[in-house]
Amino acid sequence: MKCLDDFRLRFGSREYVPIMIGGMGVDISTSDLSLEAARLGGIGHISDAMIPTVSDRRYDTKYVRDKLKQYKYNVANTNKSEVQFDLGLLEEAQKTHVTRTMERKRGDGLIFMNCMEKLTMNGPKETLRVRLRAAMDAGIDGITLAAGLHLGSFGLIEDHPRFRDVKLGIIVSSLRALVLFLRKSARTNRLPDFVVVEGPLAGGHLGFGMDWAQYDLHTIVAEIREYLIAEKLDIPLIPAGGIFTGSDGVSFLEAGAAAVQVATRFTVSHECGLPPDVQQHYFGANEDDIEVNNTSPTGYPMRMLKSSPSIGSGIRPNCEAYGYLLDGNGNCAYINAYNRELALHPDAKRLKVMDKTCLCTHMRNFDCWTCGHFTYRLKDTTHRRADGTYQILSAEHIFHDYQYSKDNKIALPAVEACEPAKSA
Ligand SMILES: Cc1cc2nc3c(=O)[nH]c(=O)nc-3n(C[C@H](O)[C@H](O)[C@H](O)COP(=O)(O)O)c2cc1C
Repeated sequence: MKCLDDFRLRFGSREYVPIMIGGMGVDISTSDLSLEAARLGGIGHISDAMIPTVSDRRYDTKYVRDKLKQYKYNVANTNKSEVQFDLGLLEEAQKTHVTRTMERKRGDGLIFMNCMEKLTMNGPKETLRVRLRAAMDAGIDGITLAAGLHLGSFGLIEDHPRFRDVKLGIIVSSLRALVLFLRKSARTNRLPDFVVVEGPLAGGHLGFGMDWAQYDLHTIVAEIREYLIAEKLDIPLIPAGGIFTGSDGVSFLEAGAAAVQVATRFTVSHECGLPPDVQQHYFGANEDDIEVNNTSPTGYPMRMLKSSPSIGSGIRPNCEAYGYLLDGNGNCAYINAYNRELALHPDAKRLKVMDKTCLCTHMRNFDCWTCGHFTYRLKDTTHRRADGTYQILSAEHIFHDYQYSKDNKIALPAVEACEPAKSA
């Protein structure tokens, strides 16, 4: 019986532990979490979702306050087309996050940036270009193109001096999406260095419709692998979504995958950005406490705890401060939903908006509790304390459990003496 440590992920002549911790925005996959993965010889992700906001919290900048000040006159206006990100400041924020993370890197692993195309930031092409290039300038090891087809993304960076040196990959959920990406990127004469194949059991946004349950990750990976072999394309495949034990991972590596991407188990680590009280909600969840719904304004279904405070919340759109989902013409599906409810209930003290949510505000406040399908198994990965709460784990413990466990076993952590303080 094998464990994940019997395999290695190869990029050229370099070898890595075949465990990648997936990007989790907004700052749920923190620098600290990604740095642990790299220290242990694997691959970690930071995320550039709402990067100016993250920078304010982490690095004491004032981007959000200043943007709100600049556009305060527009707060009551339903038309948000004037609310733009300053590209120079966006570049600065991205560079700060990447630089500060990379200068703390230890060990033989890598740090990648998860970069979601659906964060259109009221200027889809310009803002994405700045985000990608700034991360490359600041020394990121790799970029994972996420939440979108990214048909033009390689084109935005093909003249960057590091275009052929930074590891570039994409997340897809179907062979069709991969083929489209490869066709559109062929002009740049560069293949992706890896492809993450994300199945329907993942956390965050799903690359499926509400019929997600009809799809199976093993089947999608096999289909993509057959295609790559037929086309003589040697691109490492990295399955993701619902890989809960090391043995789950081994089943993919034995079928030809190069590594696995995992996330949900790390949501209950000390290094993860979720506040401790939210982590307890993740631990306590049962299977029927989790749903896939359409409340994200991106148009992608999203998996989350049904108890997420974001669901039904009818707060005023916060686009002047945030505005990460504005489509380039000042639109976001939440603005429409909010205005509809406001027109129907003009005197309501507290508006309820059930069909969409102000994702920026709620992700920023850790009030949208997105999670993977197997979140209900997290309680089996730790000890329950006398007061009914669950013991938070170290990222190292979870990483090593993935790396060395066999026979679908999950190693429990040592019982804590007292809770270590969570890093800021
Ligand atoms: C809390 C949470 C937030 C996530 N946020 C993102 C994100 O911002 N971008 C992204 O590409 N994937 C995101 N994901 C997906 C993960 O990166 C990963 O591919 C997937 O969840 C792996 O499946 P698992 O959680 O079952 O291990 C998120 C997952 C979780 C659990």
